[in-house]
Amino acid sequence: MSAGQRPGDAQVPSHVAVIMDGNGRWAQLRGLPRQEGHRRGLEALRRTVKNAADLGIEFLTLYSFSTENWRRPATEVSFLMGLLKRFVEKDLAELDASNVRVRIIGGRQDLSPDLRRLVEHAEAVTRDNTGLTLVIAFNYGSRDEIVRTARQLAADAAAGRIAVESIDEATISARLDTSDMPDPELVIRTSGETRVSNFLLWQAAYAEFVFTPVLWPDFDRAALEEALAEYRRRERRFGGLSEPSDRNVGAA
Ligand code: FPP
Repeated sequence: MSAGQRPGDAQVPSHVAVIMDGNGRWAQLRGLPRQEGHRRGLEALRRTVKNAADLGIEFLTLYSFSTENWRRPATEVSFLMGLLKRFVEKDLAELDASNVRVRIIGGRQDLSPDLRRLVEHAEAVTRDNTGLTLVIAFNYGSRDEIVRTARQLAADAAAGRIAVESIDEATISARLDTSDMPDPELVIRTSGETRVSNFLLWQAAYAEFVFTPVLWPDFDRAALEEALAEYRRRERRFGGLSEPSDRNVGAA
């Protein structure tokens, strides 16, 4: 266990999800091509994986390519595909050695066969690891995920494999890409934008959202710790009353 780890610390969310935004602006501010922003974004991603593991976070989900990102110029799309490929090829051994479990969420049907094989390989190699679960959301969009799930359920119902009345929240959660993960307690978005952008719409129903002006390539340990501190300052009510121990009992 590393020095910064705080096992069992309830104030550290077990699942943190991040909308990594601002790579393009980071590059533009420096007169660099957007690709350089993404390259530096990958460095920030690597840093954040280490920091998250060190701080005792169990699941880290990173929004790396959305279903809407296909609308970007073809050169940028293929650069981002290549970046995922390079990341898996270069970092898999180290991630595995660090006991990181890799998961990819999102529609796989649109990925090239070699990229699909690569992500399947990364998941298979790290399947039994027990440290941080790194979830890469790639070709991910919440609405797409929900549509895929609805189609699956409808097909099962039509074939008589499940009863329509048996479908409840748990049934749906169990068929989303995130089926065996806890919901995120904290969603961070960088770069000052304050939209949710089709990210974990179902899973983040009760999450706290922290928006930071830091551009993703600059996101560092201090920025992550500040987001966690903001999370701790918030009161989580789940639509009801807060925990009795949190209430200001006896206050005037
Ligand atoms: C948003 O910045 C970022 C993305 C669309 C891609 C995120 C990719 C990385 C962080 C690199 C690591 C990637 C992989 C595939 C592992 P933006 O380009 O929208 O920035 P802007 O809003 O300033 O233009």
